[in-house]
Amino acid sequence: MEIVEVSDYDAMSVEAANLVMRHVVQNPSLVLGLATGATPIGTYKYIVDHYKKNRISFKNVHTVNLDEYIGLETTHQNSYATYMKENLFNHLDIPIEQTHIPNGKTSNLIEECERYEELIQSLGGIDLQLLGIGLNGHIGFNEPGVSFDSKTNVIKLAQSTQSANSQYFKDDTKVPTHAITMGISTIMTSKRIVLLVSGKEKADILYKIIYGELNKNVPASILKKHPNVRIIADLEALSVLKEKRSVNS
Ligand code: PGA
Repeated sequence: MEIVEVSDYDAMSVEAANLVMRHVVQNPSLVLGLATGATPIGTYKYIVDHYKKNRISFKNVHTVNLDEYIGLETTHQNSYATYMKENLFNHLDIPIEQTHIPNGKTSNLIEECERYEELIQSLGGIDLQLLGIGLNGHIGFNEPGVSFDSKTNVIKLAQSTQSANSQYFKDDTKVPTHAITMGISTIMTSKRIVLLVSGKEKADILYKIIYGELNKNVPASILKKHPNVRIIADLEALSVLKEKRSVNS
């Protein structure tokens, strides 16, 4: 895993946005895997800024999102479909039918998981996948204990994830308890992965991912097995790692 150290959240966002833009320029039909949550918001903002200034086109790009809550209408203010439209898709020239997010409102979840997995394959797989990590080491919504062989599936959200995400649910809507997520093996078949990590609350888990054993209870530890992972992390996120390195040297 390659680690790119940046000063802060803003620098992480610029670095990640520039990387995405470079890939879109090199491959205008890029299949781009996208994440939600607080971490990539700055990255999306810089992509939109850059797009507006330079008119780089996304019209042949396809996107596939990692996950979606089960039970929310796509138009719900807390759905990831809404998040992606507001933060990225509405501001680019990407045709909305080329943006893909699992449908968490379907009546047949098993079929939806299979459809999503087949869709990714039919696009030729993911060229570049952006990831964040949860405080418990989840990637997508693959919570601790999940099989490393998992494909797109339905998952029960850990209590800690429900609590972390409850801050975004301002009205009476309860945080959904379940989600559809790309599986660990789906994520691992991406040709290239970029993991974004910012803030000191992520410093412990980042240390575990990089130096800990491969462990199902830290789902992101599987990334060590991927041949092409770049971690873009800010100084706060790298603080535990640096502290332990300086003690050991
Ligand atoms: P965050 O979430 O970016 O809001 O910290 C990351 C995640 O849960 O994967």
